[in-house]
Amino acid sequence: MLIGSYQLDNPLIVAPMAGVTDRPFRELCLRYGAGMAVSEMMTSNPDCWGTQKSKQRMVHEGESGIRSVQIAGADPVLMADAARFAVEQGAQVIDINMGCPAKKVNKRLAGSALLQYPQLIEEILTSVVGAVDVPVTLKTRTGWDTDNRNCVEIAQLAEQCGIQALALHGRTRACMYKGEAEYDFIKAVKQAISIPVIANGDIDSPEKARFVLDYTGADALMIGRPAQGRPWIFREIHHYLTTGEKLPEPPIEEIRQIMLGHVAELHRFYGEYLGLRIARKHVSWYLQTHDTAKAFRPTFNAIESAQQQLDALQGYFDNVA
Ligand SMILES: Cc1cc2nc3c(=O)[nH]c(=O)nc-3n(C[C@H](O)[C@H](O)[C@H](O)COP(=O)(O)O)c2cc1C
Repeated sequence: MLIGSYQLDNPLIVAPMAGVTDRPFRELCLRYGAGMAVSEMMTSNPDCWGTQKSKQRMVHEGESGIRSVQIAGADPVLMADAARFAVEQGAQVIDINMGCPAKKVNKRLAGSALLQYPQLIEEILTSVVGAVDVPVTLKTRTGWDTDNRNCVEIAQLAEQCGIQALALHGRTRACMYKGEAEYDFIKAVKQAISIPVIANGDIDSPEKARFVLDYTGADALMIGRPAQGRPWIFREIHHYLTTGEKLPEPPIEEIRQIMLGHVAELHRFYGEYLGLRIARKHVSWYLQTHDTAKAFRPTFNAIESAQQQLDALQGYFDNVA
């Protein structure tokens, strides 16, 4: 799978998820088998770039893999400026967000709200593609709502504007995250354009990955929520796609090492105050399938010290190992 001149190690991509796919999580997914990871979205409004949150999202120097940075906004000039800025900060690929259904984003006419305005989409894509020398990709949904599924039209427009790969989440904006991802639309888009198509939505197992690739003919897969608390899903899927065999669940000792490393990295990256708070949701995801963790979770969430979080996790695994 090629994006512009960048060759991915494999066709498995970490979906951008604001508040989840920060640098520590992206690094972890890359280590456990992802071929590329897209950053959390960065707003095109420069007034927000000075905030601590934005600054942390914008640091890409030294990051592993191909650095794809997502930008969100609706003003073609601001989007071009944001793309240039992201490239200065180390982005090797610019991804445009036209898939996010969040009210906060859509209120400002960005994310998937843009699907209602193809003319504006054309202006944004042309402006961003013209602003940077790196490949520009687009992430979108099947349409605004079930009466307006215009993804084929938007995909063709994207190709004409010079977009180099298209990620498609098989739901409309109105569907939010309800129902099932509709792979027929991804298949139709794949047949309508010649740039690489990345299928996204509900790919939560090696078998599902095989099915979606075969059914849609997509060039790559993008995985979001199923990787939460399970960054090794990329390794599992990659193994299955290449050998036809399923890997066993990771041993509990490996899960201990992954979690401790992840939590320690969150403390380091965000500092103690924020790091331990962000660690709580990740730990909760990791342990959601552990029956033994029901009592542990509230205890863990009440901890206010980084070292105590690590000690508590060690204690948890000493008990279950
Ligand atoms: C918490 C969360 C945050 C997300 N943030 C973004 C985002 O910043 N940009 C974007 O394009 N999509 C975002 N998405 C959508 C995902 O990239 C993906 O398209 C969606 O979750 C469907 O894929 P999945 O079924 O593999 O999770 C977000 C999804 C979630 C659950």
